[in-house]
Amino acid sequence: MIQQLTEKISFIGFGDLARALVEGALRAEALKPEMLTVTSPSLIAGRKNTPFHLAMTNLQAAEHADVIVLAVKPSQIEMVCQEIVDVVREDQIIISVAAGKTVSKIENYLACRTASIVRAMPNTAVAVEAGVTALYYHPAFKKSKRNFVQDFFQSTGTVIEVDKEEDLDLFTAISGSGPAYFFYFQEALMHAASRLGLSQEIAQILVKQTMHGASLLTQNSSSATFQEKRAEVTSPGGTTAAAISYLEKHHFLELIDQMVEKAYLRARELG
Ligand SMILES: NC(=O)c1ccc[n+]([C@@H]2O[C@H](COP(=O)([O-])OP(=O)(O)OC[C@H]3O[C@@H](n4cnc5c(N)ncnc54)[C@H](OP(=O)(O)O)[C@@H]3O)[C@@H](O)[C@H]2O)c1
Repeated sequence: MIQQLTEKISFIGFGDLARALVEGALRAEALKPEMLTVTSPSLIAGRKNTPFHLAMTNLQAAEHADVIVLAVKPSQIEMVCQEIVDVVREDQIIISVAAGKTVSKIENYLACRTASIVRAMPNTAVAVEAGVTALYYHPAFKKSKRNFVQDFFQSTGTVIEVDKEEDLDLFTAISGSGPAYFFYFQEALMHAASRLGLSQEIAQILVKQTMHGASLLTQNSSSATFQEKRAEVTSPGGTTAAAISYLEKHHFLELIDQMVEKAYLRARELG
């Protein structure tokens, strides 16, 4: 059952990921809109709107919050921490979703004023309560304070706690960036469908529904591996076999290996 959260939460940075998290947690009724404060330069300047409380500075956002979510780009984390450091308290929870930035770096940016720091690596499927979020807690983060973090992210999907911080970079490369890989594959299928003469409208339906169906098929069978699932729909000498054998001949697996490694190395660089 989803726990209704009572903490005051401030999002510093309210871009794609922050919006996805809020959307998911509101859909799940884990959050009440009135408990949310958000801030970002475009909101402050009035270039974008928000239905939530708007803080006019990062300091103001941090000051009255029980939970501060750092949802800016990794390169902006240090600057934001320096802005809020004077009001950060031990009783607050700091959640950073920034790729690569380690807990100890964030702790240092915050002048070691708190150890209640947790790194989260969600993906944007949190918006539809189908996300997957990896969590890594500062070793001194009190067990008794972890419930909020668990409940918040669980309201948006699956949560996996990791003991080794380095593993977060792997999650970043697989599930953090993952939705984009599948979108790109859908884009490629759309391209192919259109080249073969299908209308965009029909191709959209086919591509979307096929992805959805394939996802359900893998979710609903706990026994078969992905490889076995693929074998089930690949008759020797048939159409699917012709397609897959072309991918194999062109080193598809190696290409994906390299793709994921690039994301992994980039996550490490960003730290
Ligand atoms: N997107 C993903 O799929 C994903 C997945 C996992 C983790 N992450 C992590 O999530 C973080 C945010 O990513 P994103 O994709 O949401 O990026 P984004 O859409 O570019 O959002 C960044 C937000 O930070 C705001 N910002 C910039 N400078 C600021 C400052 N000095 N003070 C306060 N806010 C400031 C931006 O404001 P403006 O609106 O004014 O530009 C924007 O709202 C990154 O660290 C990324 O590594 C993202």
